[in-house]
Amino acid sequence: MTARVVVVGSTNLDLVVTTAQLPRPGETVLGERFRTVPGGKGANQAVAAARAGAACEFVGAVGSDEFAGLLRESLIAAGVGVRGLRTVPGPSGVALIAVDRDAENFIVVAPGANAALTELDADDRAAIAAADVLLLQLEVPLSTVVAAAGCARAAGTTVVLNAAPAATLPDELLDLVDVLVVNEHEAEVVAGGALDALLKLVPRAVLTLGARGAAYADRDGLRLSVPAPRIDAVDTTAAGDAFTGALAVGWAERGGADIEASLRWACAAGAACAQRPGASSALPDRATIDALHDATYRGTP
Ligand code: RIB
Repeated sequence: MTARVVVVGSTNLDLVVTTAQLPRPGETVLGERFRTVPGGKGANQAVAAARAGAACEFVGAVGSDEFAGLLRESLIAAGVGVRGLRTVPGPSGVALIAVDRDAENFIVVAPGANAALTELDADDRAAIAAADVLLLQLEVPLSTVVAAAGCARAAGTTVVLNAAPAATLPDELLDLVDVLVVNEHEAEVVAGGALDALLKLVPRAVLTLGARGAAYADRDGLRLSVPAPRIDAVDTTAAGDAFTGALAVGWAERGGADIEASLRWACAAGAACAQRPGASSALPDRATIDALHDATYRGTP
C-alpha cells in the first residue's frame, strides 16, 4: 500500500558554511565551503516521505524572491505535490547553518514567507482528510498547526507532530496529537523530561537519540528502544527530518502496527541522511534506507 502523507510546514533556503569549529558567542571564525541547499523542516520531511515511497502533498509558502523557484522546484523534483504551496509577497524563509568537522551544526531561521501561512483552504483540508498521516513541525504559525491537526483529527488522519524548533505546546494542540517526535532537548522544553513526562501530554511519544537510536513509549504500556546504524556522520542537518519522514511512511504503511519495525526503518533513514552533506540533498531514497536497514538489523528478532 502506498502511504498518503500530507505535510503542513516550512520551506527555507539553507545557507550552509562548513567550518573546523563552530564559533562561540561574539567570536568570528573563518569557514571553509559555502553551499545553498533547499531545506526547511516541513519541506525536508515532505521530501523524506516522498523519497521513502509515500504519495506526499506539501502545504506551505514561498516568497516572491529569487529563492522561491529553487524551493518549489526542489519539492517537485522529489515528487512532492505542490498544489498547496503558496507564493506570497516578500522574502522566502532562510536558514543560516554552520556545520563543524564533528558533523554538529547550529541553525538560525528567518521565517519569511513561512510566517504568512496563516490559513488552510478547502483543498488543503480535503488533502489532509484523505491522508493516512499528517506531519507537522513548528516553523509555521502555531494557529495553522492547530488548525491542520484539528482537520486531521476530525477526518481520522493520524497526526504526527515533530516539536521542532523546541517550544512549549498549548493543550489545544497536545489534545490533537497522536504521535509526538522529539529529540532530547525538545523533550526537555516540551515536557521537562523524557518519555514518561511526554506521556502525560500525548498518547504516544518517540524520543530520537542521535547516534544512540530512538526510544518509544505509549499509554498502553509499550516501551521500545532501537539502536541506530553505526555510520561516519559528515552532517547531521535534516537527519531528524529524514527520521520523521520515514517514520510517517512506515507508520502509514503498517497502519500504526509493528512500531519497532517503523522505528528501525526511521533510524536507518536518519543515519543515511547524516552520511551526506546538506538538508534535502542528503535525504535518502527507499532503496538506500532499505540497504542500511538490512545491513544493520538483519537477524534482529
Ligand atoms: O531540520 C533541518 C532544517 O532546519 C534545515 O533545513 C533548516 O532550514 C531548518 O529549518
